[in-house]
Amino acid sequence: MHFPAHASWPAAFPRSFRKQYPRAVRGEGAWIHDEHGKRYLDVAGSAAVSFLGHGDRAIARAMAAQLADIEFAHTSQFATAVAEDFARELLEFAGAPFSGGAVYFTSGGSEAVETALKLARQFQAESGHDERYQIVSRHQSYHGATLGAMAVSGNLRRRKPYLPMLREFRHINTPYCYRCAYGCDNCAAAHARELEIAISESDGAAAAFICEPISGATLGAAAPPDGYLQEIRRICDAHGLLWIADEVMTGCGRTGRNFAWEHWKTLPTLSLATPASDKGRATVAPDIIVAGKGLAAGYAPLGAVIASRRVVEAIAVGSGSFIHGLTYNAHPVSVAAGRAVLNRIRELRLVQAADSNNTGSLAAEFAAALRTLRDCDFVGDVRGLGLLWGVEFVADRQSKAPFDPSAGFSARVFEAAQRRGVLVYPMQGCVDGTRGDHLLLAPPAVTLPDEIRDGVAELRRAIQEVQAS
Ligand SMILES: Cc1ncc(COP(=O)(O)O)c(C=O)c1O
Repeated sequence: MHFPAHASWPAAFPRSFRKQYPRAVRGEGAWIHDEHGKRYLDVAGSAAVSFLGHGDRAIARAMAAQLADIEFAHTSQFATAVAEDFARELLEFAGAPFSGGAVYFTSGGSEAVETALKLARQFQAESGHDERYQIVSRHQSYHGATLGAMAVSGNLRRRKPYLPMLREFRHINTPYCYRCAYGCDNCAAAHARELEIAISESDGAAAAFICEPISGATLGAAAPPDGYLQEIRRICDAHGLLWIADEVMTGCGRTGRNFAWEHWKTLPTLSLATPASDKGRATVAPDIIVAGKGLAAGYAPLGAVIASRRVVEAIAVGSGSFIHGLTYNAHPVSVAAGRAVLNRIRELRLVQAADSNNTGSLAAEFAAALRTLRDCDFVGDVRGLGLLWGVEFVADRQSKAPFDPSAGFSARVFEAAQRRGVLVYPMQGCVDGTRGDHLLLAPPAVTLPDEIRDGVAELRRAIQEVQAS
């Protein structure tokens, strides 16, 4: 498209030059207000970011206090108390498998994924496995916008223009229960088996496997079948790979657990290879957790790589330094924001509020309200856990046939909902990377039950409006 010479656009590079964005001026709880006084219920939590809601003064105060003490000190020259304290608290929040580990703070999710990939590679090299450098990942996944993160991602649309620039390794399929590739026949083991095959094809070069424990934006809150993550853990152990859990979207309470992998930590293992004495008590914990989004909940740019002791130890007692560095690594004001957010999450018991299995919780109310959407003609599936849900649209519920992508069904629902003052996160491509429309829903855990019910009612009207058009 050629713009005429007199054309102009916003100086702040917009996401789309075809759209006009309302200007956000104020946030309060689950609401964002624009410059014209219209308010929007943030049922998407921006993009699964605002777990704590908007405008929490306690976070502003903590950031201002840090700013008044010291705004920045380079990590090659100084440590800061705030980074050390928050790292300790985060390791504790991540649970016993991360005791004695260490946290590398970044400025967001993509940087944290890049950091985790490099950390996994250096871990292997320092453990005497210089031949291991490949990262096995999954189709229909998203790990970030930078080139390394995009190489391990499987989101077709977001990757397509950059494919010639990506260094790619093996991708395996992601469990997607609504359209199960294995017809739900022993599918947890069958999917995990794909990892074993990819590892053997890598001929000893695989260093790590990365996945989202619950698929986020790309598939719309698709949780794996029970047993899948246990098998992933077993296979990684058996073949000497690290398991990196990308919890940028699912972490920090979003699914009703501190981190989403914990949903499966107490289930019995599937594998016949597991000795009988070990059944039911396998350790499913990842070696590395990547966090972002909800970590500072939108109050500051912040990501984190939470590494277990074994990973850190290899470098600490090996070469002694991780060959990696970011100017804004552990920025004191961002870290202060993250620390204050974690404090508020505890104080307001937001992980409990986000547990959809906890009767009477906000998440349980939300799940119940969303499930009522199943009676809408074009709603094929409503799925999710905690406060992370997906609504998949289909042209035909019987055959599960998706809409033609050019119809832009999910984008039209987004627009109709936005006009009604409700924010949702529309995506396309869940079926095969191109076809398939869905919404991702991830409201703040401070949303009031009435607000959540009204929000879902407005969403129903938006879907019906698009259905009728
Ligand atoms: C699972 C996952 N990983 C990584 C990222 C990248 O994070 P960021 O956009 O903060 O760079 C995202 C962002 O949506 C994500 O959902």
